[in-house]
Amino acid sequence: MATDSVALPVVYGGSTRPPRGDYSRGGQVALDYTCPQNYAAYTEADHNTYRRLYERQCKLLPGLACDEFIAALPSLGAIDRIPRFDDINERLTKATGWRLVAVPGLIPEVPFFTLLANRQFPVTDWIRKPEEFDYIVEPDIFHDLFGHVPLLFDPVFADHMQAYGAGGLKAHGLGACEQLARLYWYTIEFGLMQQADGLRAYGAGILSSSGELVHAIKSAEPQRIALDVLRCMRTRYNIDAYQQTYFVIDSFQQLFDLTAPDFTPLYARLNMLP
Ligand code: PHE
Ligand code: FE
Repeated sequence: MATDSVALPVVYGGSTRPPRGDYSRGGQVALDYTCPQNYAAYTEADHNTYRRLYERQCKLLPGLACDEFIAALPSLGAIDRIPRFDDINERLTKATGWRLVAVPGLIPEVPFFTLLANRQFPVTDWIRKPEEFDYIVEPDIFHDLFGHVPLLFDPVFADHMQAYGAGGLKAHGLGACEQLARLYWYTIEFGLMQQADGLRAYGAGILSSSGELVHAIKSAEPQRIALDVLRCMRTRYNIDAYQQTYFVIDSFQQLFDLTAPDFTPLYARLNMLP
């Protein structure tokens, strides 16, 4: 679906730093910001980075990641090289009707929400440099794929992500994207779940970070509180340090149910509160 029109680079999250991806790619980026996964561009060093990140993270998962994530991880396929999105899609679409689409990096809110509402998940196709092995400011393919995609194989979580996309479009119309972004941050990115056998992570920002995975579950420092949508939307977050607060759910069904009500009155209330 490439077009002649070049999608404009975006500045996101109130940052003045320009995004790192190449948003022109010689006309390969469509108006909805999707593009072909540039598989030929990966070097052996890139595949190697992916394999090393995958290996390190996999070893950490038992006892720290939720069961649904661990069960679905093998569905990503290749572990020794960067997977092809088309290959994952053959399984993912059968499982939950979702499909991965490649993007050159972070994209603006409306196209992002629109893709999610249509059960299409945007995955950045480039990978970090070896010197960014432990920390990268912007999401790359390892964060997007390893962190987010396994749970799209879970039927309840998959439905929640679609509902989030539709809710995002609505929030955009109501000027409430910032509030909704906090919910995203504390659930889809940094959410914890109380499982029968202990506390586990399901948020992609935790699951794709070796340091935060241990910190989120084991450290005595952060506070961990039961998910409350209003409180969550009133809690500011930090993008460049481990979280000081984590919100905990019991199950994806609970997450789905807590976020199912119409947020319109909630946004109105939030605007009145300090
Ligand atoms: N129920 C929310 C609304 O009406 C939409 C939503 C669903 C938001 C799921 C987040 C997650 O606005
Ligand atoms: Fe993410």
